[in-house]
Amino acid sequence: MEPDIQRHTRGKLLLEADAIQQAVRRIAGQIDRDYEGKDPILVCVLTGAFLFFSDLVRQLTIEHQVDFIRLSAYGYSTSPGKPAWLMGPSLSIRNRHVLVVDDILDTGETASCIETSLRMLQPQSIQFVVLLSKMSRRRRSVLCPYVGFDIDDHFVYGYGLDLEERQRSLTSIYHV
Ligand code: IMP
Ligand code: MG
Repeated sequence: MEPDIQRHTRGKLLLEADAIQQAVRRIAGQIDRDYEGKDPILVCVLTGAFLFFSDLVRQLTIEHQVDFIRLSAYGYSTSPGKPAWLMGPSLSIRNRHVLVVDDILDTGETASCIETSLRMLQPQSIQFVVLLSKMSRRRRSVLCPYVGFDIDDHFVYGYGLDLEERQRSLTSIYHV
């Protein structure tokens, strides 16, 4: 937690760096078991998932590829509505096993938009991997077998998640 102390004194600590890393290792272990021999493509949803994604893929022992997608910000930061695609995957996902890695599953709008669009590219399978889930806020049902933590309805930041486009580099997660 040390690098955080120099940069950040406000906010309440929700998940300490060590607990996050433990969850990352647990999820990587699950993926290793479930995707052995399947050579999945792990797709990082920018920007919020960048730290979770980079820690997660470095814990994997199975063969895999990485790719990145970006959708327009919406929800907490702008007016509600459908997120728009800003950058699609660059690898071909046709007939491949895809794991979409995101920071947080909130209402589920983003995930269901991603799922609908990626399914048109005919992957063999799609699953979601998220570090955080706010189950109480869900408006769309999204199947997500890989979840780090179920959290209450707080606005959280750090470890990739932003507070008005700042604080993403914190190693722990805080709430306002
Ligand atoms: P959803 O479409 O409502 O599920 O929202 C998902 C997106 O909203 C996430 O990928 C985040 O970018 C953002 N988001 C939702 N809750 C939070 C939060 O507590 N902190 C920071 N970003 C959040
Ligand atoms: Mg996001």
